Amino acid sequence: MVFLLLAAAATLAVPLAFRGLVDAGFTSREINDKFLTLLGLAAILAVVTASRFYLMSWLGERVVADIRSRVFDNVLRQSPAYFETLQTGEVLSRLTSDTTLVQTLIGTSISMALRSVVMFVGAMIMMLITSAWLAALMGVLLLLVVLPIWALGRHVRRSSKVSQDRVADTSAMAGEVLNAMPTVQAFCREPYERMRFNQSVEAAFKEAKRRIRLRSILTAVAIMLAFSVITFVLWIGARQVSATQMTLGELTQFVMYAVLIAGSIGALSEVWGDLQRAAGATERLVELMRAKPNLSEAGGGSLTVSQHRGEIADVSTAMPASAAALEFQDITFCYPSRPDYAALNRLNFTVASGARVALVGPSGAGKTTIFSLLLRFYEPTSGGIAVFGRDIRSWPIDALREQIGIVPQDPVIFAASAMDNIRYGRLEASDEEVIDAAKTAHAHGFISALPEGYASFLGERGVRLSGGQKQRISIARAILKNPPILLLDEATSALDAESEQAVQRALDAVLPGRTSLTIAHRLATVLHADRIIVMEAGVVVEQGHHTELIAQSGLYARLARLQFTKE
Ligand SMILES: Nc1ncnc2c1ncn2[C@@H]1O[C@H](COP(=O)(O)OP(=O)(O)OP(=O)(O)O)[C@@H](O)[C@H]1O
Ligand SMILES: [Mg+2]
Repeated sequence: MVFLLLAAAATLAVPLAFRGLVDAGFTSREINDKFLTLLGLAAILAVVTASRFYLMSWLGERVVADIRSRVFDNVLRQSPAYFETLQTGEVLSRLTSDTTLVQTLIGTSISMALRSVVMFVGAMIMMLITSAWLAALMGVLLLLVVLPIWALGRHVRRSSKVSQDRVADTSAMAGEVLNAMPTVQAFCREPYERMRFNQSVEAAFKEAKRRIRLRSILTAVAIMLAFSVITFVLWIGARQVSATQMTLGELTQFVMYAVLIAGSIGALSEVWGDLQRAAGATERLVELMRAKPNLSEAGGGSLTVSQHRGEIADVSTAMPASAAALEFQDITFCYPSRPDYAALNRLNFTVASGARVALVGPSGAGKTTIFSLLLRFYEPTSGGIAVFGRDIRSWPIDALREQIGIVPQDPVIFAASAMDNIRYGRLEASDEEVIDAAKTAHAHGFISALPEGYASFLGERGVRLSGGQKQRISIARAILKNPPILLLDEATSALDAESEQAVQRALDAVLPGRTSLTIAHRLATVLHADRIIVMEAGVVVEQGHHTELIAQSGLYARLARLQFTKE
């Protein structure tokens, strides 16, 4: 603001210096001084303008950096349900292109606007001093100019929001296709995807065209109106000079102020357009920044995770052996996107502390859903879940998730080294601990055989690994986390029989002392579970040990007969 005001003052002093020059008639001996003054003004203007530019641009970058972090931070806290409706590409687009608009606004437009406002006000005041009557006339006429500009600006804003939405659609589509390249190519769908992307790009272009047209009209209207006003006022001024009511120097000064005013109005109308555009982008960013995670974080959040770990460790050792590690009471759950379909229907079961329980059942029975509820990715529609005897809603979310290690159905590999991928389970683990976990998960062999061993980059989404290798990295990650509860969702489904047995044996070695819930389709892997829970269509239909279930000759017996007689 200081530099801005200094720059404005220096600019406003220029016409004053000119008036002196003109009225002195270019012949006086003071002329050298006057020109030196002008040069001095230029020097001040240069330094002050550069400083203002530096500070304003800095501010723009800083604000955008903060917005990006805040938006990302809030997005990270959303539950999976949020991402069922919002595409990741869209979030990315908002984080990049929308924030860039805001940056332009703050770094350039606001600076321009402030300067123009100051110049406008300053030049108006100086004009009033030069010729009050002419200035007043001009002021009133200019008011009439501002109204249409303001009205047009609102259209620009609406169009801008739509335009940015279209750009986001494009990003979302590109992101999806790039993630599915092998499938796209295997189905020869390149022309189809090209067409779809083209359509999306063209839709964005069409919207941008609309916006640009509006902006052009806005500019034309602003320039035309402002110049008409100035020309009219000057015409009156010129008549005053010829009637000798005004000196030529005064009119020169007045003209220069008028030019400054016209310039600032032009700049302001442009800024107004930018502002409307950025307002559209900001709305979209604020949407992301304000989105509330639909989980209520439990009280007791002040307890640190490690304190909880300690407390639970004490409790679970002090508890009688029969105390349940996991308890599902009458759980009914519908996914938010399918409110009329119960993925789980009045489900009841308990898992004793330290038990190894298997979950089996046909595809779509709701097995993975159970894991999602345990991790509080979703809230059950009714019923309650307890972990170590404590309702999960009363757990601080971090502490709850700290108790649980999960090997998901489709393992996630980050674009990082093998070492970093396993260490994701516990960031502070040493290299030796990571390697130990890899050995336990039977991943050590193939990782060592990679070109750079543990430092090998695994590619985005682990594209450089086989399905079974990804699973073993994922298992190593969960083992490294060393949680009291392990959830394995078909953790070994992509392994050959031999590796599967090896990993199974390794899991046998780490499971004692932990509670585990294992989802498996291959029944051979659950033969030795303490208990098998058989699910179908969201309900538990049978449970018991392998031999008991066979004796019941129900769903399990049927599945077992199919699998074991074939093998
Ligand atoms: N995000 C979701 N939104 C809506 N419905 C879902 C969602 N995820 C799963 N479902 C539905 O919930 C039901 C249970 O799904 P779940 O993933 O728990 O099955 P599953 O037993 O793990 O099956 P599989 O053995 O094939 O992995 C299915 O009918 C599925 O269509
Ligand atoms: Mg599943």
